[in-house]
Amino acid sequence: MEDIIRIRGGRKLNGEVRVSSCKNSVVAILPSVVLASEIVKLYDVPNIKDVQILIKLLEFLNVKVTADDDELTIDPTNISNIDLLDDDVMKLRASYYFMGALLGRFKHVRMYSPGGCNLGPRPIDLHLKGFEALGARIKQEGNIIEITADELLGDDIYLDFASVGATINIMLAACFARGRTTIENAAKEPEIIDLSSMLNKMGAQIRGAGTSEITINGVNRLKGCIHDIIPDRIEAGTYIIAAAACGEDVTVSNVIPQHIEALTSKLEEMGVRLEQGRDYVRVLRSEGLKGVDIITQPFPGFATDLQQPLTALLTKAEGDSHIEETIYAERFKHCKELNQMGADIEYKTGESMVHGPTPLHGADIFATDLRCGASLVIAGLMAQGETIIHNAYHIYRGYDSIVNKLKAIGADIE
Ligand code: EPU
Repeated sequence: MEDIIRIRGGRKLNGEVRVSSCKNSVVAILPSVVLASEIVKLYDVPNIKDVQILIKLLEFLNVKVTADDDELTIDPTNISNIDLLDDDVMKLRASYYFMGALLGRFKHVRMYSPGGCNLGPRPIDLHLKGFEALGARIKQEGNIIEITADELLGDDIYLDFASVGATINIMLAACFARGRTTIENAAKEPEIIDLSSMLNKMGAQIRGAGTSEITINGVNRLKGCIHDIIPDRIEAGTYIIAAAACGEDVTVSNVIPQHIEALTSKLEEMGVRLEQGRDYVRVLRSEGLKGVDIITQPFPGFATDLQQPLTALLTKAEGDSHIEETIYAERFKHCKELNQMGADIEYKTGESMVHGPTPLHGADIFATDLRCGASLVIAGLMAQGETIIHNAYHIYRGYDSIVNKLKAIGADIE
């Protein structure tokens, strides 16, 4: 089958779209299961490519994974610490959570370096420095990383940047470290709280997740647990933006509105009509949108993952919108594609400027990464005529049933 999404734009969206569970939570939760000595059950697991790959990697380690619809039963009791020299490791970023988890459990891990979206340089020096602070030794040969410790000892670790990945990886390794580990300048993303609450159910002693100081008191063993994953704030944001662009009356449900305040307040500043409930955001037909300026920042600032989707909507807004990207300076590949559809966007390292409004027309375009793909889907819905998005596999890495969800609210998409 050809790897494309075809959209005939200009349809009005109406109805309800339910957000799935959070990709960036589940991709940390799945590797963390190797820390458990008993069965872990996960509910409402999203059906996305990254999850399928992580399940294959767990099975590679002799962890038994049974799927029943969107429930996963994961049995790590027969796990073996086999070197993760499998090509699947390089297909996604989150495979690096096996470093912290296997190091914590076995004091040794050998695996390929992770892959993931091409957003420019994505070093893991902070993860490795954290492991070293806990007493690990690191050997790198080409694309293979080996991390070993005789014993892991708690320490105070200051992160130069509040990295999501480094915070999680150090938390995972520190669960079994002797004594107390403190992570200062820790990332505060909701996914970190979700992971920590699951690890605490398993018997870990983690305090402060969601603040900039996290402490982990080491324990000897983690048991099983049952866990419901939080809703995906980036998927929620993507549908809210799509509804702001093309909706008449769309309710995005299974949302934690506090997780997307930076987005909803920007949309309101643009003139988008929103109604927020306890677990939903309703988007009403909005005309006469105004351009706004955005600076991407770690949570609770404006999420870099929503910068690309929002750019599509900004092409419809009156005036200039300036975007400063402080997390991934090269996250602008969507701009070239949007310009092919009639947008007028200037971009260079670290920033872009959207001159609006410009009507969009259908085109043959390429998803270059996950959120670029989401941006192009929104643009395709807005455009007159037919849009063909190539390399749609990027989109399926992070959006569960995106085609069916959009079809159900009136999009002409296949
Ligand atoms: N950084 C370093 N050294 C490190 C780690 C990070 O310099 O050791 C830099 C990165 O290069 C980047 C910044 O710090 O400039 C932020 O990186 P962070 O570690 O916070 O991001 P990440 O863990 O690699 C996660 C998400 C991304 C999301 C970012 C920021 C996962 C699997 N990925 O990446 O999600 O953009 O946090 O919120 O959780 C996506 O879902 O499309 C996606 C890319």
